[in-house]
Amino acid sequence: MTIILIMQEKLIQLKQEILAKLAEVKKIDVFRDLEIKYLGRKGELTKILRSVADLSAEEKKTLGKLANEIKIELINRFEEVKTGLEKTVNASYIDATLPGIEIKTGHLHPLTILQNEIEDLFSSLGFMVLDGPELESDYYNFTALNIPPLHPARDMQDTFYIDHKNKDGQYDMLMRTQTSPMQIRAMQKYGAPLKCIVPGRCFRSEATDVRHEHTFYQLEGLMIDKDINFSNLKAILEALGKKLFGPETVFRMRPKFYPFVEPGSNGEYSCFLCAGKGCRLCKNTGWLEIVGCGMVHPSVLEAGGVDSKKYQGFAFGYGLDRLAMLKYGINDIRLFHSGDLKFLKQF
Ligand code: DAH
Repeated sequence: MTIILIMQEKLIQLKQEILAKLAEVKKIDVFRDLEIKYLGRKGELTKILRSVADLSAEEKKTLGKLANEIKIELINRFEEVKTGLEKTVNASYIDATLPGIEIKTGHLHPLTILQNEIEDLFSSLGFMVLDGPELESDYYNFTALNIPPLHPARDMQDTFYIDHKNKDGQYDMLMRTQTSPMQIRAMQKYGAPLKCIVPGRCFRSEATDVRHEHTFYQLEGLMIDKDINFSNLKAILEALGKKLFGPETVFRMRPKFYPFVEPGSNGEYSCFLCAGKGCRLCKNTGWLEIVGCGMVHPSVLEAGGVDSKKYQGFAFGYGLDRLAMLKYGINDIRLFHSGDLKFLKQF
C-alpha cells in the first residue's frame, strides 16, 4: 500500500470516529474537549494535514483535496452541534447570581391619588361615589341647573359644543363643562334623601396657560335630606380641608353667585403654607379659594324630581387639578396631562 492510500484510510477512519463521537455529545464541556482534541492546533486532524506538506507534489494533490474536504465537513458539523447545544444550554441554565432585570411598575397619577383620598373620606361619611357621562346634553349641563338658553351665566363657561343637531335643528350636545349635571341625574335616579360625590373629567374651550387647561377634573358633592342647612355644608367642607391640609386648617365662606345654588358661596381654606399669615401661595391673603358651594336652588331640586317644599340640600364643586396643585406645590396645570415621566415619578 502506498503511503497515500494509508493516509487516505486514516483520514476516513478519523472522520468517522469524530462524527460518531459528535453524535453522542450532550454537554457543552465534552464538546469543547472534542473540539480541542480533533480540530485544535495540536489536534489529530491538524497533524495529518501538516504531514501532507512532506509529500510530493503529485501526492499532495490527491491527498490534499480529500483532507481539505474532510476538514470543511468536520468544521461544519462541529458548528451545527455547537449551535444545538447552546440552544439547550441557554434555555435551561439560569445564573442566579446575575443581577435581575428590573421590572418597572407604574403608579397612580397624582390626580387619582388625591381623588382616592377624597373618595375615602366621603365614603366613610356615607356618600355614594358616582360616575357620569363626559358627553352631556345642553339640558343637563345648563338648563336643568337653572341656566336656561340665552341666560348670561352660560357665558361664564367657554363650551365645546358637539357638531350634531337634534330633531328640532338645535345643537344640544356638548362636552360637560362641570360635574354639576350629575346633581340632576343622581336625583332622578336615586331620589331624596341622597348623599353622593362625583369625580370626573370636564372640558372647556380655554386658551391654555399655567392655570387653565381645556381638560381638567372636578369633584362634585350633593347632599339632600329634610332639615339640611348651611352649617351641615360648612361642617363637611371643613372636614375635607382638615383631612387634606392638616387639622389646624380653618374654613370660611364668602358669598358668590352660582345659578344652581341659593345662597351661593366661595369656600376658602386657611393657607397651609403660611398658616394664614400671607405668602406667595395665597397671594398674601392668608386664604386659598378652592370650592364653589351653596344650598341647592329649588328649581334645581324640582328639575331632579325632588319636592323642594319637603327637602333641602347643599352642593359643592372642587377643581381637583387646582386642589392637587396647591397640595403638592405644582405650578403648571398642563403638567397633569403632559405624560412627562420626570413630573409623574415624583408622586
Ligand atoms: N360647577 C361650578 C363650576 O364649575 C362649581 C360649583 C359651584 C359646583 C357651586 C357646585 C356649587 O355644586 O354648588 O364653576
